[in-house]
Amino acid sequence: MLSFQKKSIEDNYIRGYFNHISEVRETPIEKLDPFRNSINQHIHQKTQDEIFNWAEKQSYIVLANLMYAAAIENIDSCPMEGFRQDVIEEILSVNPETEKVTVTLALGYRSEEDPFQHLKKVRKPNEKLFKFI
Ligand SMILES: Cc1cc2nc3c(=O)[nH]c(=O)nc-3n(C[C@H](O)[C@H](O)[C@H](O)COP(=O)(O)O)c2cc1C
Repeated sequence: MLSFQKKSIEDNYIRGYFNHISEVRETPIEKLDPFRNSINQHIHQKTQDEIFNWAEKQSYIVLANLMYAAAIENIDSCPMEGFRQDVIEEILSVNPETEKVTVTLALGYRSEEDPFQHLKKVRKPNEKLFKFI
């Protein structure tokens, strides 16, 4: 699985998003205007870099959910960032002008001979990782 993201959000893209909601929820498109206006305002006051950083973070939400879903199905996964972006983009015919591959996720089943699977998991303790309020 590869997550590739758009480098900018055009009006047409937002229109498509709202048409989709309207269709799936069988809601008149005008009823979504307040939501659409708020999204439009939010997007238009951001720079291209801010949009790109936001979109990149969004892909990690998908990634986390996919990893959890795979784990529930006993499918192993390995998230990877250290890849040759240019090679992957060429294989997938991604247009680098408008899209970028952010992260990759290998999904499958571990080899029985993989010695790493028996190592203890190294995890920060909850107190260091989270702030409970
Ligand atoms: C080829 C490869 C590339 C990886 N790239 C990244 C990376 O870019 N960033 C990262 O945090 N972990 C990376 N990892 C580490 C894995 O995502 C994972 O965290 C690691 O295998 C340990 O997982 P575990 O602690 O659940 O056993 C990579 C692992 C492999 C095998």
